[in-house]
Amino acid sequence: MTRDALILVAAGKGMRAGGDIPKQYRRIGSQPLLVRTLQNALKAHNFGTIIVVISADDDFAEGCLAPFGDEVRTTIGGATRTDSVRAGLNVLQGERIDHVYIHDAARPFLTQTLLQDLSNALETHQATAPALPIADALKTLEGDSVDRDALRRVQTPQAFRYADILSAFDAAKPGESHADDIAVARAAGLSLSFTSGDPDNFKVTYPEDFAKAERMVDQTYTATGSGFDVHQFDFESNDPLWLCGVPINCGYTLKGHSDADAGLHALTDAILGALCFGDIGDHFPPSDPQWKGASSDKFLLFAMDKVKERKGLLQHVDVTLICEQPKIKPHREAMREKIAELCGLPLSRVSVKATTTEKLGFTGRGEGLAAQAVATVRLGS
Ligand code: CTP
Ligand code: MG
Repeated sequence: MTRDALILVAAGKGMRAGGDIPKQYRRIGSQPLLVRTLQNALKAHNFGTIIVVISADDDFAEGCLAPFGDEVRTTIGGATRTDSVRAGLNVLQGERIDHVYIHDAARPFLTQTLLQDLSNALETHQATAPALPIADALKTLEGDSVDRDALRRVQTPQAFRYADILSAFDAAKPGESHADDIAVARAAGLSLSFTSGDPDNFKVTYPEDFAKAERMVDQTYTATGSGFDVHQFDFESNDPLWLCGVPINCGYTLKGHSDADAGLHALTDAILGALCFGDIGDHFPPSDPQWKGASSDKFLLFAMDKVKERKGLLQHVDVTLICEQPKIKPHREAMREKIAELCGLPLSRVSVKATTTEKLGFTGRGEGLAAQAVATVRLGS
């Protein structure tokens, strides 16, 4: 157990943020803001003690904090942030603590780097906080310039040697409100050093900050997969030739272990490729007799199930068939419709194209056909 304590102040009303409930309980993506902050704090540093300071008339904290169990204790804050911090420090009285980190619940994006820098700074100083330089020109309301090089924007967590911040708060006048905890430390003469701030570690303060935070937790990305397949013609058989799930009665067919639908095979591999989930041969080995003569719908539906398991969303597919014969154009719309049905996509997101190879190569000589496909899938992290 480390002797580092975290005080997370979450007793404010969030007036500037608006909304029906205090900002720390509003959701960012799937999680309340406070839960995100706490989860990121736990990931960022090994705290032996965690105190969340909540408001007396708070109906939300219990539900939010229940999943954290005994690891997190709560106490009731006060009318100002300074009072809330004081309440948190009071809970720690008498405990064996070396360093205390005081953090706004309203800053969900704290990182391990921020915490590590603060921890390092406490080896040489009594108080520390992340600070950022100011990029914009600074003016008074009268329009006079202020030297921005001498100023910093200061964030939380702010970290202190425990005994020192305790006596700094004891020395401060009860009821007096301070801009932050560094202000209390400074008034008591503690030695101070700033670490590098992080622009992403911003405080959710105004209504528009929720949209910014939502964008930052949106970890989705678009994955692209490609697939390729070749099958040889079988002129001995006049079974239908299956292509993109559509039977073509052209007097010959394709050789293969399954129904040899090169279009659906290429498409299945494209989707598996987007998922980084191997290829069709891994999941349906040609050596396995159960896939003999199998309809290739099965392979595609399998890939679609895998998309669902990953909570993904197939967005678009594009299949290119490469052959001299049979002519694809008369079957193209039926192919698009079949693929759209199997993939649960609107027709406008399914493309089937065809080309020849100008009589060159095995497709040009009419020995077989090739298919290639590209699939785009929207995925979480
Ligand atoms: N805070 C607190 N107790 C207070 C006031 C603020 O614990 N009496 C906490 C807030 O919950 C927040 C952090 O201090 O996590 C930073 O304060 P701020 O962003 O000002 O939050 P609010 O005071 O809730 O918002 P507002 O000032 O817009 O009402
Ligand atoms: Mg406030």
